[in-house]
Amino acid sequence: METTFLIVKPRAFAEGHVGGIVTEIEREGFEILGAASRRLTREEAAGLYEVHEGKPFFEPLLDFMTSGTTIGLMLRADDAIAKLRALVGATDPAESAPRTIRALYGNSKTENAVHASDSPERVERESSFYFGDCARALNI
Ligand code: CDP
Ligand code: MG
Repeated sequence: METTFLIVKPRAFAEGHVGGIVTEIEREGFEILGAASRRLTREEAAGLYEVHEGKPFFEPLLDFMTSGTTIGLMLRADDAIAKLRALVGATDPAESAPRTIRALYGNSKTENAVHASDSPERVERESSFYFGDCARALNI
């Protein structure tokens, strides 16, 4: 079993799509290990997207990610990281396969409903913004 991490972005949270997103995740067989709600600081959002620093969409993305409440979910399944990325779909909701979370709930490339970690190192770093030391208690 592998652990992965998902963030419900501010617009999907504000529009009431948390339940729908969790339903898709549970339907795919993920176990939910923990959930935490918070509004990210700009530093945390910059840490989340540090690989994209300097790109044209970086600052607007930080504006968006700090604009409201988000939810962090720790998830477990076989091959969880790849499996979740497949369920989430392509970055642009318009290009995301039908029934993927971004196709169902995304609005634009930036406001694309959810973030999914792409490696074990990123799971650890990104989940720390939500769970801090509690991540250890969740056995990740
Ligand atoms: O999230 P994902 O790994 O699919 O995409 P990414 O290429 O790593 O980009 C990270 C995030 O930046 C995306 O989820 C988008 O919200 C945002 N982005 C954007 O606003 N405009 C772009 N042209 C590309 C990405
Ligand atoms: Mg990425």
